[in-house]
Amino acid sequence: MTRFITMAAATLLLAGPAFAEGDVANGEKEFRKCKACHTIASADEVFVKGGRTGPNLYGVIGRTAGTEDFRYGDSLVAAGEAGLVYDVDNIQAYMTDPQAFLAEVLGDSGARSKMTFKMRSDQADVAAYLATFSESSADGADASAEAGTDGS
Ligand code: HEC
Repeated sequence: MTRFITMAAATLLLAGPAFAEGDVANGEKEFRKCKACHTIASADEVFVKGGRTGPNLYGVIGRTAGTEDFRYGDSLVAAGEAGLVYDVDNIQAYMTDPQAFLAEVLGDSGARSKMTFKMRSDQADVAAYLATFSESSADGADASAEAGTDGS
């Protein structure tokens, strides 16, 4: 019995991270859908030259919602003030349906999002791709991010 539980726990531990990580290369491809409205740029380097309809997504994983230099909607700012910090899980829920996500975070069905786009597939991969532009995962992720944008 003890042995069975231990093995089950080990399987969960192994399965968890693999699922959460996502496919960065596919995420990079899928980001084309976000690019119309979002740029990814640090202070000194542009990784993805995209639109300006939405905020810069550089370092968005680990960032408090609504804190870039951008004219956000009130609901997103309120969510940030309530303590919303993006991670690879909640950002998937956000991109799946921003308005429904904000309504849930704020407990307010009247919440509004200025992002009307809904991502219906590959959210985990896009989340993994975005994580390569965050400090917390800079180790080792830097190289792949650079390789991916070479030549653009
Ligand atoms: C049609 C334009 C458009 C597209 C396409 C789009 N977004 Fe957005 N996005 C926006 C706008 C506008 C906002 C600001 C929302 C607000 O203020 O309520 C935003 C906000 C965000 C935020 C919140 C950032 C912050 O600083 O709080 C994230 C995360 C995000 N978008 C991710 C994505 C991802 C990932 C995709 C592709 C799967 C995507 N967006 C596609 C327009 C877009």
